[in-house]
Amino acid sequence: MTETLLRGRTLSFLRWPDAIDDHGAYSYQEDGGVLIREGRIVATGAYEDVARQAGEGAQKIDHRPHLIMPGFVDAHVHYSQLQVLASYGAELLGWLNTYTFPEETKFRDAQYGRRVARQFLDEMVRHGTTTVAAYCSVHKQSAEAFFEESHARNMLNIAGKVMMDRNAPEGVLDTPQSGYDDTKALIAEWHDKGRQHYAITPRFAITSSPEQMEMAKALAGEFPGLHIQTHLSENHAEIEFTQQLYPWSRDYTDVYEHYGLLGPKTLLGHCIHLSEREADALSDSGSVAVFCPTSNLFLGSGLFDYQRYRTRAKPIRIATATDVGGGTNYSMLRTMDEAYKVIALNGEKLNPFASFWQMTLGNARALSLEDRIGTLDAGTDADIVVLDSRATPIMRLRMEAIESLAAELFLLQTVGDDRAVREVYVAGRPAKGDMA
Ligand code: GUN
Ligand code: ZN
Repeated sequence: MTETLLRGRTLSFLRWPDAIDDHGAYSYQEDGGVLIREGRIVATGAYEDVARQAGEGAQKIDHRPHLIMPGFVDAHVHYSQLQVLASYGAELLGWLNTYTFPEETKFRDAQYGRRVARQFLDEMVRHGTTTVAAYCSVHKQSAEAFFEESHARNMLNIAGKVMMDRNAPEGVLDTPQSGYDDTKALIAEWHDKGRQHYAITPRFAITSSPEQMEMAKALAGEFPGLHIQTHLSENHAEIEFTQQLYPWSRDYTDVYEHYGLLGPKTLLGHCIHLSEREADALSDSGSVAVFCPTSNLFLGSGLFDYQRYRTRAKPIRIATATDVGGGTNYSMLRTMDEAYKVIALNGEKLNPFASFWQMTLGNARALSLEDRIGTLDAGTDADIVVLDSRATPIMRLRMEAIESLAAELFLLQTVGDDRAVREVYVAGRPAKGDMA
């Protein structure tokens, strides 16, 4: 039996932190311990108490003075867009046609997919992200490459091959039947294999014909426990085009409603320009709006109204995500820094505890995975990040004047990136050393 005992400043959330002084929302131990057995956390709390429960042979790893937290969760990212990152000068539809679809055609080659999947998951680990909800390309082999690599690392990830049968180049199109068959075969092979989860992934209404949407509906009916992921209301030209393609629909959200695709396991990327009716539909169905701030700014898509969605009479469940290659950085710290600025442009401030809640327990909950990940609670999987608040010269200097945990977290979020990630544990195993 392998046992690992981590020591450091532990931080884990219990609930949404309402304000900067809402200290009941989290558990923080200045000298904390996390005891890990067979990939699971078995005890967490004051180091002395936890150490007493460790066996003689436990491997002790001292991370003091660093922060030990649940690993970050990225609720929307395209692994097949590693080579799309930093593509200049376009809005959504032009960006897809000019850069994204041509790059995704390369994933027809399984070898290429395997290489990118390896590099992508290395990047996740390097940035402290232990779980993603990922889009693969249209090719079945791109999803196979992703799951093979994720399974080999024992990471808990959600992914799916995109279903898309129109309005894109031939090299990235399936058909209603092949999209259905490939999805079904991938579910059979990968869903619930180890820590892998399959997501039914119609890319968005523009690239799926009504026939393909019917197939997505059929899959959702056959596999009701699975996640569904797609894009919604990101850009004005996208919304207009969708209205032309589905003239009977009341609005963009109605298209997904019509095909039975809304629900508590549905992850809707962007959701920037929603009407009140659409926001109600998301709320009533328990669907999740995924806020991707670096992408929304980079593509000039608009400002997600986080506080409106959170506090309206019918609140919407929210996750946050990088959305690389539309997004510009794999770091959830950089992502929440940009989220803070987008929320500030809407006249509000997100407190630093709420930010760190969001990228850990908040996102785990949005993915309905809080019983497995997102906290340091005993019984959950040991997916953990260790953060160094003095990782760079400016952070070291700034920390000299910082006296509270809230200010330290805000510094980490505002200037931190992969350099602040000292170690990452995936199911209890140190993972940074595994990287290529
Ligand atoms: N809408 C449909 N596909 C995509 C994509 O790959 N990225 C973004 N940002 N939006 C999309
Ligand atoms: Zn996306």
